[in-house]
Amino acid sequence: ALISLRQLLDHAAEHSYGVPAYNVNNLEQMRAIMRAADDTNSPVIVQASAGARSYAGAPFLRHLILAAIEEWPHIPVVMHQDHGTSPAVCQRSIQLGFSSVMMDGSLKDDGKTPADYDYNVDVTRRTVEMAHACGVSVEGELGVLGSLETGEAGEEDGVGAEGKLTHDQLLTDPEEAAAFVKATQVDALAIACGTSHGAYKFTRPPTGDILAIERIKEIHARIPDTHLVMHGSSSVPQDWLAVINEFGGEIPETYGVPVEQIQEGIRHGVRKVNIDTDLRLASTGAIRRHLAQNTSNFDPRKYFQAATEAMYDICKARYEAFGTAGNA
Ligand code: G3H
Ligand code: 13P
Ligand code: ZN
Repeated sequence: ALISLRQLLDHAAEHSYGVPAYNVNNLEQMRAIMRAADDTNSPVIVQASAGARSYAGAPFLRHLILAAIEEWPHIPVVMHQDHGTSPAVCQRSIQLGFSSVMMDGSLKDDGKTPADYDYNVDVTRRTVEMAHACGVSVEGELGVLGSLETGEAGEEDGVGAEGKLTHDQLLTDPEEAAAFVKATQVDALAIACGTSHGAYKFTRPPTGDILAIERIKEIHARIPDTHLVMHGSSSVPQDWLAVINEFGGEIPETYGVPVEQIQEGIRHGVRKVNIDTDLRLASTGAIRRHLAQNTSNFDPRKYFQAATEAMYDICKARYEAFGTAGNA
């Protein structure tokens, strides 16, 4: 069944678990996410980025998600729009039937230039007014996402600040978060706590507290009823990097956010955990290996099946690690 983000995350908060929010662009991702959810009895958040909408087209994405709900009617599914750049973008998704939208007012509507606080409040508040009137939840973002190690926003197209970021910009301020939530009434808030989008988060193996856990605790203490969202939460599996490079890929040494650090975040109020890169790495690795090992195959279903299995394994592991399993 289609449910709102607020409904799902209220349950997650009550029972102290987190929910992975996977980006979807195609059939294989959708089926991997749903089969893993079904096998672990987990509720689902699937999200469509601007890139996904231009790749697959909004109607196809919408029907992909609706098809999943039809095939697995017992699994609660949130249909979420990732990184909306304006109230108008969010309005179109609401009209299409999304049950949740992100208004990312931390950046201007070019998706690159860091925006000031007043701009962010204005676009987010307007989006909440519109969305709540339709029973749709809203995620806002405060603070600019970027790696605490490198000061870089990360690699995703169109959803990251340009240039080096200062330490101050890289951590959401708890007092400002409280004022922001009061002014906008968002259901969920994406915070900057040391993660960044894409595969290149950290240049060295992460040790100790790679995330600003203290900061997460402080924010959660100030806004306990607002669900915290951690973007850039891919763990960048080293085994899949090795497979990609063994079968012709060239990906330099890089590290993501360890699952244990995400679990620590979940213990302190993180409820929605955004993951895209890990599924991209797994499917690329699986396809490269399949094609290299099955040189006479030309049936795309064979290598797409290998990709689906690889993504399924990651989805299942995250549902189990975040405590989502058993809560559908
Ligand atoms: O937040 C960014 C997601 O990873 C989506 O990336 O815009 O390339 O689809 P994309
Ligand atoms: P990753 O690039 O770490 O998978 O993060 C995805 C994300 O935050 C989508 O909004
Ligand atoms: Zn994001």
